[in-house]
Amino acid sequence: MGQRMLLEVKNLEAGYGKKQILYDIALSVHEGEIVGLIGHNGAGKSTTLKSIFGLLTPFRGQVVYEGQDFTLQPPAVRLDAGIYHIPQEDFIFSDLTVKENLEMSFFTMRERSNFESRLSEVYTFFPVLTNRRNQLAGTLSGGERRMLGIGMGLLRRPKLVLVDEPSSGLAPVTFQNVAKIIQEINTGLGTAVVLVEQNVKVAFKLSQRVYVMKAGRMILEETGAKLLERKEWWDLF
Ligand SMILES: Nc1ncnc2c1ncn2[C@@H]1O[C@H](COP(=O)(O)OP(=O)(O)OP(=O)(O)O)[C@@H](O)[C@H]1O
Ligand SMILES: [Mg+2]
Repeated sequence: MGQRMLLEVKNLEAGYGKKQILYDIALSVHEGEIVGLIGHNGAGKSTTLKSIFGLLTPFRGQVVYEGQDFTLQPPAVRLDAGIYHIPQEDFIFSDLTVKENLEMSFFTMRERSNFESRLSEVYTFFPVLTNRRNQLAGTLSGGERRMLGIGMGLLRRPKLVLVDEPSSGLAPVTFQNVAKIIQEINTGLGTAVVLVEQNVKVAFKLSQRVYVMKAGRMILEETGAKLLERKEWWDLF
């Protein structure tokens, strides 16, 4: 592969309160890579993303980002360092317009300039948002809201995006569109992605490497291409 390491999660153990959910998690992301993370409901995928973003403090283990130990850094520091988390739940501001949501995201950046050019970049990736820029975000369709959520991240030009189930609640055709844009952002801007996705076929197609989780542990790491060659996938879990 030859790319530089961007993120390395080592022996991570984490959970909620005293309840341990993750056991000995190891996961790496190279610069510009799309890494898939799949597994049954409750396997610990979202908990893994939250730990990478610093929303949970690990019991043990390390999160190394750009060669530096980020294990105990709060989310705001990770955000400034170029990590962006798009949670499974909707997080956009319904009472603000599309453009105001994008402004909110941009103006919470520590280093900010060129809002207009960043905005037009987002509108280029998501033409549908251009037409709806003055519409209240609460009135957008599910797919449009998802695009706005990704657009808010894109505006910050992160190095690593953690996307939690971009397909949830979307019609297959709409999701194909969102998946295509995630791929275009990755190719066009070199943004690395950790993609949690229930639609395994799409995850395999998009990802250079895929991790499979079960009951809080990593049980497999394989290339997306190899996984696509398989006849059956049920036996993966
Ligand atoms: N805030 C919380 N407090 C306590 N337990 C939690 C909390 N959030 C998640 N859990 C538990 O942690 C385990 C892993 O949950 P997680 O959300 O990481 O799974 P997931 O793989 O993302 O599942 P899904 O595919 O359903 O989104 C589950 O057993 C869940 O009940
Ligand atoms: Mg989840």
